[in-house]
Amino acid sequence: MKLPPNLISPSLLSCDFAKLAEEIERVENAGADWLHVDVMDGHFVPNMTIGPPVVEAIGKIAARPLDVHLMITDPLKYAPDYAEAGAHVLTFHYEVAGSTAGAREIVRAFRGVGVREVGVSVKPKTPVEVLAGILDDVDLVLVMSVEPGFGGQKFMPEVLSKVRWLRERGFDKHVEMDGGLNDKTLPLCAEAGTNVFVAGSAIFGAVDMAATIRGFRESAERARTAAHA
Ligand code: DX5
Ligand code: ZN
Repeated sequence: MKLPPNLISPSLLSCDFAKLAEEIERVENAGADWLHVDVMDGHFVPNMTIGPPVVEAIGKIAARPLDVHLMITDPLKYAPDYAEAGAHVLTFHYEVAGSTAGAREIVRAFRGVGVREVGVSVKPKTPVEVLAGILDDVDLVLVMSVEPGFGGQKFMPEVLSKVRWLRERGFDKHVEMDGGLNDKTLPLCAEAGTNVFVAGSAIFGAVDMAATIRGFRESAERARTAAHA
């Protein structure tokens, strides 16, 4: 099975929000493929981040596609706002949909407002099998490798089997891993079949951001080659 290209999606959650425009330019120049934007509502997760006006501002200055991760209870209500703000990928959580039918309704609504790539995400404790009925409808599955809400947490290796399950059953679109990625954990994700790598603290906390992104890219390619050798 041919997997989509490896993509590095730095999470802006770990950037210096007081210098948002400079941080976006810095991470794009350092080699980011996508910009991961974490949207939290203080309800689905115990934290609040940014809303549509800020995503719109990011969309205006970003040169790279926005990879918007909605950790919110009501994605249907806000989808048009995020679509208009320029989300290229818009990902909702399966947990708020609660069923295959509910998830299909959200996918339809996202496509209806012009979202190019629709993603669905599962929290670490949600079994990936719940997605069986929705895989044909989505462009991306985001596997959370920490409890959503905060950057800088420890990677949970038990979620790697979710990626393997997706690839084994022939899912050949994007599989994204989010939470606790660094030079040790990223190769494990790549080996399992992940192709989109989100990293916040490891990239924005790096001494040399460009070298870190380059290192991630090389180690993802190496792990992929080894896994398919
Ligand atoms: C957590 C967010 C992540 C977070 C990752 O809820 O979805 O995108 O920013 O941060 P690190 O890479 O620091 O774990
Ligand atoms: Zn995220």
